[in-house]
Amino acid sequence: MSNSVDAVIKAHRLLPVIEIQDVAQAEPLAAALMAGGLPVAEVTFRSKAAPEAVRLMRKTEGLCVGAGTIINVEQAELAISSGAQYLVSPGCFPKVIAYAKSKGIPIFPGIATPTDIGTALECGIDVVKFFPAEAYGGLNTLKSLSGPFPQVRFVPTGGISEKNLASYLAHPKVLACGGSWMVEKSLLNEGKWDEVRARVAAAVALVKSCTPAS
Ligand code: 3PG
Repeated sequence: MSNSVDAVIKAHRLLPVIEIQDVAQAEPLAAALMAGGLPVAEVTFRSKAAPEAVRLMRKTEGLCVGAGTIINVEQAELAISSGAQYLVSPGCFPKVIAYAKSKGIPIFPGIATPTDIGTALECGIDVVKFFPAEAYGGLNTLKSLSGPFPQVRFVPTGGISEKNLASYLAHPKVLACGGSWMVEKSLLNEGKWDEVRARVAAAVALVKSCTPAS
């Protein structure tokens, strides 16, 4: 990982997974994240607005903006040219990883099995997104996966909320957790920026009460 992305993710341990449908949401959302104490965003490339949202959010000083749901090289190219500082994929795609590396952009590929982890390691990646975490057995599966791969750190995502966040973060191989609960699409669509700020602040407070990752 590049030093700045590494530092911000290690310090904050949260990746808010965002789906923006309207670019007008980008700037108030960036402000709500910062006000809640979380200078990190993962803008998923599932909507037409995503590239422009990344570009607009990058205007907020100190906010580390990544692109999520990157499943092919074309999307990776668009995300990076829009200013994405890191990429997240739902699966482990060697061509996408190689492209991100060639551009010097950190990438967190998704894994759910030992074979996926092996592929990530072959591509030179040792920080992976465990996705979809809860559907694939949650913390028990993560513990089993980390046994044979002690060098790997995980960013579990999928089904995580304030209810199970602390239990994931307590595992020494969990670097950070991702999720949409802080920035639910309905809150963005209804412009409920105070609620976004409050959910972000609550998650940040919960992280502070947890032991840091190894
Ligand atoms: C993702 O894209 O990483 C997931 O959809 C986020 O999962 P969640 O909505 O269960 O947090």
